[in-house]
Amino acid sequence: MLMSRVLHRMAGMTPSVLEAISGQIANEFGASFSYLAMAAWCEHHKFMGCGHWLRMQSAEENGHGLKLFNFVLARNHHVKLGAIAQPKVDFASVQEVFERALAQEQEVSRQIDALYELAFREKVFAAMAELQWFITEQVEEEKTVREIVAKFQMVKDDPASLLDLDRELGARAAEPAAPGA
Ligand SMILES: [Fe+2]
Ligand SMILES: [Fe+2]
Repeated sequence: MLMSRVLHRMAGMTPSVLEAISGQIANEFGASFSYLAMAAWCEHHKFMGCGHWLRMQSAEENGHGLKLFNFVLARNHHVKLGAIAQPKVDFASVQEVFERALAQEQEVSRQIDALYELAFREKVFAAMAELQWFITEQVEEEKTVREIVAKFQMVKDDPASLLDLDRELGARAAEPAAPGA
């Protein structure tokens, strides 16, 4: 018992931070799964550019999950993968898809903030350093999706503009993987 406590301290981790990071791994893979469901809806409705953008976003979230997965292993802990909730699969419009995406990003930002606060309280400095990357990433993710939502709100139901916007989203290029992913 004493030995395991000492090992925990040596590894610079606490049980509650470890559990919370495991939960966040499931949240990131859940976000990936949710973006994949959004891609499926868009492509079924022939918004192929939106589908492309959302598939890339799904892959990016997968990378976020792996980044935390690799972090836990690098700290010499066992990764306990949790359940992933079924994502929302039905939408009223492509605009609603991206509004849901923005809500999802805002939720992930809250999750990361809570995780950072916990790591701060428990003085798990390595986790704080790791999570700093995610805090910065969430600022960028929210900004990007908020701009897309604004464009859909401007375009409304105008078919020519919707096709333009779909083409624009279809031009999204691959970004370098997250460091450590
Ligand atoms: Fe993420
Ligand atoms: Fe994200």
